[in-house]
Amino acid sequence: MSKIRVLIVGYGNVGRGVAAALNVHPDMALAGIISRSPERVKKELGDSSIPVMHVDDVEDWKQALRPDIAILCGGSSTDLPKQGPEFAVHISTVDSFDNHGEIPNYFKKMDAAARAAGNVSVISTGWDPGIFSLERVLAASFLPGTRAYGFYGLGDAGGLSMGHSDAIRRIPGVKDGRQYTHAEPVAVAKVRAGENPQLPPGEMHWRECFVVLEKGANAAAVEREICTMPNYFAPYRTEVNFVSQEELNERFGTFPHGGCVIAAGKTPDGSPARVEYSCDWGSNPAATASVLVAHARAAVRMKKEGKAGAFTILDIPPAYFSPLTHGELLKSYM
Ligand SMILES: NC(=O)c1ccc[n+]([C@@H]2O[C@H](COP(=O)([O-])OP(=O)(O)OC[C@H]3O[C@@H](n4cnc5c(N)ncnc54)[C@H](OP(=O)(O)O)[C@@H]3O)[C@@H](O)[C@H]2O)c1
Repeated sequence: MSKIRVLIVGYGNVGRGVAAALNVHPDMALAGIISRSPERVKKELGDSSIPVMHVDDVEDWKQALRPDIAILCGGSSTDLPKQGPEFAVHISTVDSFDNHGEIPNYFKKMDAAARAAGNVSVISTGWDPGIFSLERVLAASFLPGTRAYGFYGLGDAGGLSMGHSDAIRRIPGVKDGRQYTHAEPVAVAKVRAGENPQLPPGEMHWRECFVVLEKGANAAAVEREICTMPNYFAPYRTEVNFVSQEELNERFGTFPHGGCVIAAGKTPDGSPARVEYSCDWGSNPAATASVLVAHARAAVRMKKEGKAGAFTILDIPPAYFSPLTHGELLKSYM
């Protein structure tokens, strides 16, 4: 059996996760890594035999690495909007673009580029958007009239929000910072009970911040700036803890996250009904990477079938994610 050759585009947290995840899929192999900073990546990999090339050397990496599919691991804010359409012209792609409001626009651009080149581009997958998008659609289709709620950070540690951590680090006087999102248990209970309540964002989650100050910075001013930041913190109950850099590094060296989608209401006979799907990740980027790798398998299959254009998790039959045959799936999973 010839293995699916996967190219990693961009080597950060998710890129590292993809490289690790490929080791546990016997039908897939890492073709190589391409990056805007290949020297940094080579240094990090040490004496590994993994090929690393510059992202701009398109003909070179195509010829040397012969990838079947590229997993785009760049950031959603500026990397993917540029790299996505550029790569879809050369090769089938999978990405985790997570700017929810921009997904329809991004889909259009990726669809045009991939369709014209005869490639398959799976966009905006991971756990949210991704698995949770699928669960929201299933819930709304199976239980019409209920609302599908998303809660994040259900465990004691909460969920590390990269975007909110970034926002804290941009405040003058802040040297480093992390933000953990916590679901409000009262709101979760109301939703589980089938009340379908109107819940403003601040009643669904609260925010816990750990901040390292620059020398001489005014703690009260930083706290005020965090707590009053529109959209990010102002609508939420926010707790700010000042810690040393050592404490931040030691206690918060990982990327825990997770959450659930809940829809609860009644079936037409008046019986209570609830669907709920939850994920608990010790590492958000490693989990996202695992989802991306399964989508790479699906994309390669779809391309082999002659499909082209952009697709989301909503458009792919679940059997395509699995290495098992259809017969094996019917026997073991139905
Ligand atoms: N859908 C979901 O459920 C989900 C969940 C989690 C994350 N995501 C998405 O995944 C994206 C990537 O997350 P991430 O944590 O992997 O971001 P990241 O670590 O910041 O990496 C993003 C890119 O930045 C570059 N980079 C990384 N470290 C660098 C360094 N030390 N110096 C210079 N450049 C560096 C890399 O590109 P080069 O190698 O080309 O330089 C890398 O591809 C996020 O923006 C988010 O949108 C989606």
